[in-house]
Amino acid sequence: MKRLGVLTTGGDCSGLNTVIQRLYRGATLRGWELVGILDGTDGLCATPPRAITFDNTTLPIEAARLAGSFLHNGRTGALNFETAAKTGDLARFNRKLRKSLLELKLDAVILIGGNGSLSLAWCNREIYSGLQLVCIPKTIDMDIPLTDKTIGFDTAVQQLTSFCDQLMLTARSHHRWFVTQTMGRDCGQLALNAGIAIGATAILIPEIKFDVNSLIKHIKKSPRDYGIILVSEGISLRGHSGRPADMISRKLTAAGLENRTAYPEHTQRVGDTTASDRILAARMADCALRAIENNETYVMTAINNCKCETVSLADFFASGDVTTDPNIPDLKTSDAYVSPDDPLLEIATNMGIYLGETK
Ligand code: F6P
Repeated sequence: MKRLGVLTTGGDCSGLNTVIQRLYRGATLRGWELVGILDGTDGLCATPPRAITFDNTTLPIEAARLAGSFLHNGRTGALNFETAAKTGDLARFNRKLRKSLLELKLDAVILIGGNGSLSLAWCNREIYSGLQLVCIPKTIDMDIPLTDKTIGFDTAVQQLTSFCDQLMLTARSHHRWFVTQTMGRDCGQLALNAGIAIGATAILIPEIKFDVNSLIKHIKKSPRDYGIILVSEGISLRGHSGRPADMISRKLTAAGLENRTAYPEHTQRVGDTTASDRILAARMADCALRAIENNETYVMTAINNCKCETVSLADFFASGDVTTDPNIPDLKTSDAYVSPDDPLLEIATNMGIYLGETK
């Protein structure tokens, strides 16, 4: 009999509940117990730690497709790694996490998180010593190294695509452009994928330099007088501040291009989990449970060449682009970006989409 703990950390996304439900079913079939830690590390730091033991009624199959996390992801301002690092409370935070894990008498922890949470788990791995730590990657940003897929990304692309499909209709009626800002942090995958799906006129992502005058020329040469300019939230424009979509919109207005801005914001993180994300969640949950069965630890489930397998957290950390936030030097994250040889870049260019200076 094993006792597993599961928690969701960082920003929520669709697919989290599907993983949790599949973990519960798989654990039960093995005769194991599943403990749900509420509110991520925030709940783990509480005294006593906030946790529930699953049974058949806890998360029914029909609720597993719903967005958000049934276990919650915590409050931004609560005691978490970021707030602890800022206030110099890091040692106390780490001690508290360790104490709670021992108090809950867990054999293994399944951490469903993004690149921040996974990096932190690796950098502070002594917290989990003596337990098995298995991570499952989730994020709408798709910025996690060593995996071709992350839970929540497909649903986010679908949500953004549906949002833009609707905008396109009003854009057409009024002969105008919509500068639409996507999420994704410093990674352009979400914008790039949705941009191809909707046939955007331009996709601006942080990985590719662009020139506003070339963008304007491209729009003016378009066979249509309406469309969508998809702008990733991580882009910047020298000499300008404010929200990226506002900056681009002002430039278009100055060039005589009638336009509006649109912000889908957190609607990208919700929406009924797509079939593809549900299948991914089922595969990753199964892979995580097999890893626990095989006594693996400090690993992450990953999709590579269509196969679902585990990769070590050490490799995940070493193969990414490790960045440090100047305000929180203790926080190191291993990031992935759109690579210059991503085949979607050529596809977008061949569709006549402006991407910036790709050559
Ligand atoms: O990392 C996921 C993400 O949705 C980013 O794309 C976005 O920048 C950020 O989280 C938004 O965070 P918050 O929910 O704190 O506004």
